[in-house]
Amino acid sequence: MAQTLYFSLLVIALCSLSEGIQRRYHYINMTKTWTEAQRYCREKYTDLATVNNINDLNELKKTVNNNQEFVWIGLKRPGINEWKWSLGDPVTYLNWETEPSTDTNNCAVMRNGKWHQQDCNVRSQFICFNGVSKDFIICQSHTFLLSCDQGTIKVLSANYGRTHRQTCSTGRPDDQISNVQCSLNTSLSAVATRCDGETSCSMVVNNTVFTDSCDGTYKYLNVSYECVEAPPNSSKSYIINTSSTTWREAQSFCRQYHTDLTSVKNQTDNQLIHNIINDPHTSVWIGLFRDSWEWSDNTDSAFRYWDSGQPDNLDGSQNCTVTNMNNEGKWHDISCSVFYTFVCHEDELILIQKNLSWTEAVRYCRENHVDLVSVDSQKIQLMVTEVLHQAWTAEVWLGLRHSCSVGIWFWVNGEIVCMIIGLRGMKQQWTTVSVM
Ligand SMILES: *[C@@H]1O[C@H](CO)[C@@H](O)[C@H](O)[C@H]1NC(C)=O
Ligand SMILES: *[C@@H]1O[C@H](CO)[C@@H](O)[C@H](O)[C@H]1NC(C)=O
Ligand SMILES: *[C@@H]1O[C@H](CO)[C@@H](O)[C@H](O)[C@H]1NC(C)=O
Ligand SMILES: *[C@@H]1O[C@H](CO)[C@@H](O)[C@H](O)[C@H]1NC(C)=O
Ligand SMILES: *[C@@H]1O[C@H](CO)[C@@H](O)[C@H](O)[C@H]1NC(C)=O
Ligand SMILES: *[C@@H]1O[C@H](CO)[C@@H](O)[C@H](O)[C@H]1NC(C)=O
Ligand SMILES: *[C@@H]1O[C@H](CO)[C@@H](O)[C@H](O)[C@H]1NC(C)=O
Ligand SMILES: *[C@@H]1O[C@H](CO)[C@@H](O)[C@H](O)[C@H]1NC(C)=O
Ligand SMILES: *[C@@H]1O[C@H](CO)[C@@H](O)[C@H](O)[C@H]1NC(C)=O
Repeated sequence: MAQTLYFSLLVIALCSLSEGIQRRYHYINMTKTWTEAQRYCREKYTDLATVNNINDLNELKKTVNNNQEFVWIGLKRPGINEWKWSLGDPVTYLNWETEPSTDTNNCAVMRNGKWHQQDCNVRSQFICFNGVSKDFIICQSHTFLLSCDQGTIKVLSANYGRTHRQTCSTGRPDDQISNVQCSLNTSLSAVATRCDGETSCSMVVNNTVFTDSCDGTYKYLNVSYECVEAPPNSSKSYIINTSSTTWREAQSFCRQYHTDLTSVKNQTDNQLIHNIINDPHTSVWIGLFRDSWEWSDNTDSAFRYWDSGQPDNLDGSQNCTVTNMNNEGKWHDISCSVFYTFVCHEDELILIQKNLSWTEAVRYCRENHVDLVSVDSQKIQLMVTEVLHQAWTAEVWLGLRHSCSVGIWFWVNGEIVCMIIGLRGMKQQWTTVSVM
């Protein structure tokens, strides 16, 4: 079997039933304790409502057609206050400067290559991670890092200039973004000279490193690369953003424009990330945070929508969560034994068949704001298998091959099929790409 990637045969995308809705919510107009509500939802639907993002929350609010103040959702406090990666990766490597204390500094920054606890509401620079990246944009005066887990970098195209108005335009005056005919034909060689043949490389995107082809225009680098002789899931990049934001704002920015706030999985990762921080003495958010909340259906979602001052665990027993319909759906922690109405969710999937190349599939996921995240949940694998059974006959399934950080690998009729699983976006979708 030749290792030629990117020519692809079959992509099957499974999307949720309605456009833009990840889960179908059902409001139940009966008051129950949290545990009884959970039992009810598990019997009749999938589980008590999981809310992955603000779109989910808006969908959930629409289903509550009763003037209730508090409504149960599926978030509960299991009792263990643990450090977690925003991306849902297991926490196996830690690099604290000093052992974390149990105070309320529940987020983590990297400073001088070591990790420090910091109050999540303090403002710091941050580092986003692009899983399976091929094409991406870095705004002027920002630093990026390309990396291949296996194989070496081959830059395919690059332009330092401006060809779109919207890209990298936030907060910029009109005269800096109106020229959309700005190209620099030496961009590719500049990036290729630095990066081709390397396993990782980082660059600052500015007028010194490239040249200024259009004075007065705020530019960006539009770059695309691949990892030569490596599986298609091996390229990734890190992008540092030097605006100061809270941890939550950084998380939501990274999820919208890239994959997520970065995880740091081992010493090698730590060094790579440390190297792209311009001033090592500054504090830069990474994706590590701590809380003791879990979703009833075990989804790894790190989305939280607490009201100010919440969760306050008032009498030490507020281990369950309601959404406050009188205040934009903001969340409160509440004792689990109180009686409220509640929202269940139901996972519904349909099969959409499309033929896309790997690159197209990744782009498809991106355009639909779906992140590529790890899937350890056996339940999701079962669900995928179930839906794929509708498309392929049983003998096709020769066995589950491998579970990896950006997807699941299957053997299907002797072909390797990689499955990109997106969970956090507008849609829930599964894309399989066969790589011959
Ligand atoms: C929900 O239940 C309350 C009390 O039983 C009732 O007054 C109300 O009409 C119900 N609302 C809906 C939408 O069924
Ligand atoms: C709530 O969780 C705490 C641990 O955080 C546990 O000690 C306590 O027993 C729980 N309370 C109830 C009412 O379940
Ligand atoms: C950095 O993040 C801020 C939001 O916190 C955003 O407005 C800005 O565009 C980002 N910059 C880059 C270069 O992505
Ligand atoms: C570090 O983790 C990355 C994935 O995040 C992996 O590709 C690499 O092989 C690991 N390196 C070591 C030395 O374990
Ligand atoms: C980036 O480059 C690709 C191809 O070179 C082009 O299709 C795309 O529109 C560019 N994107 C932006 C935002 O300039
Ligand atoms: C880039 O453009 C300049 C003029 O704008 C031209 O002289 C030069 O030959 C071009 N270089 C390449 C590599 O195309
Ligand atoms: C561009 O980045 C390089 C490397 O960090 C730095 O030395 C140089 O001063 C920067 N140039 C501008 C114009 O910011
Ligand atoms: C996808 O492409 C393959 C080979 O090019 C073809 O046999 C198959 O029918 C196509 N499937 C769909 C759904 O278009
Ligand atoms: C990509 O897939 C290969 C082949 O199954 C696997 O060995 C590797 O760990 C995966 N890489 C990542 C970053 O998940």
